[in-house]
Amino acid sequence: MLEKMSDFFENRLNGYDEHMLSCIEGASEFYLYTANCLPKNENCHILDLGCGTGLELEEYYLLNPSAKLTGIDLSKGMLSALKNKFKDKNITLVLGSYFDVPFGDMVFDAAVSVESLHHFTKEEKIPLYTKLRKALKKNGYFILTDYFSLSNDEECLHQQNLVKLKEEQGIEDDSFYHYDIPLTVEHETEALLEAGFSSVEVLDNWGTTFTLKATK
Ligand SMILES: C[S@@+](CC[C@H](N)C(=O)[O-])C[C@H]1O[C@@H](n2cnc3c(N)ncnc32)[C@H](O)[C@@H]1O
Repeated sequence: MLEKMSDFFENRLNGYDEHMLSCIEGASEFYLYTANCLPKNENCHILDLGCGTGLELEEYYLLNPSAKLTGIDLSKGMLSALKNKFKDKNITLVLGSYFDVPFGDMVFDAAVSVESLHHFTKEEKIPLYTKLRKALKKNGYFILTDYFSLSNDEECLHQQNLVKLKEEQGIEDDSFYHYDIPLTVEHETEALLEAGFSSVEVLDNWGTTFTLKATK
C-alpha cells in the first residue's frame, strides 16, 4: 500500500538512522563524501532539502562546526530528531515541502540533498531547481547524493509502477506518496541544466547512489 510521504517517514523514525547506514550500499562512505563536498568556510550558510534526521550533517559539522543551516523536511518527527542531535548549532528548520517553501534570492553558499529527491519526476524538479539556483549566492553550488535508475527502461518501469499502484488504490489526489521513481543521471543532469545551472558534474557513485555537483 502506498503511504503519504510524511506518514511513511514519520512511521519509520524508530531505527531510521541504523536502517539508512546499514541497508543502503555505500552509506558508510557517501555521507562523509557528501559532507566533504560542502564549503568549509566559517559561518557559511547551507540549505538541506529533505534533511531528515541529519545524517549528512553529523559528518558536516565535524568538518565545519560553525556552519549555519536551513533544513526543510515534510516530517515533524525527523526534524525533532535532527534538532535533538545538534542542540548547540545555528539551525533553522522548516516543516514543509521544498516545492512550496520560498528559498529567497542569493541566500546560500551551497545546498545539499541526500536520498530525498528520487521521489519526484523531472517535470516536478525543473521549477524546484530553478528556485534553488536563484537561492544560491554567486559561485554557489548544489550537491545531490541520491538514488538513480541505471537505464531509461528502469526509470520508465518505476514511473509506470507508481501510476499502476495509484490506480489500483483509487488515489486521485496530488499529495506526495512514498514510492521511489529515480531518474537516470542523464535525466537528472538535464533537469539541472534546464533549470539554469551552468554545469553539472558526476563526482562519484556507490552502486545506485551517485553524487552530482551542479554549479550556479
Ligand atoms: C530517505 S530520507 C533522507 C533524509 C536524510 N537526507 C538522510 O539522508 O538521512 C528522505 C527525506 O526527505 C523528506 N522529503 C520527501 N519529500 C519531501 C518534500 N517534498 N519536501 C521536504 N522533504 C521531503 C522525507 O520526509 C524524508 O525525511
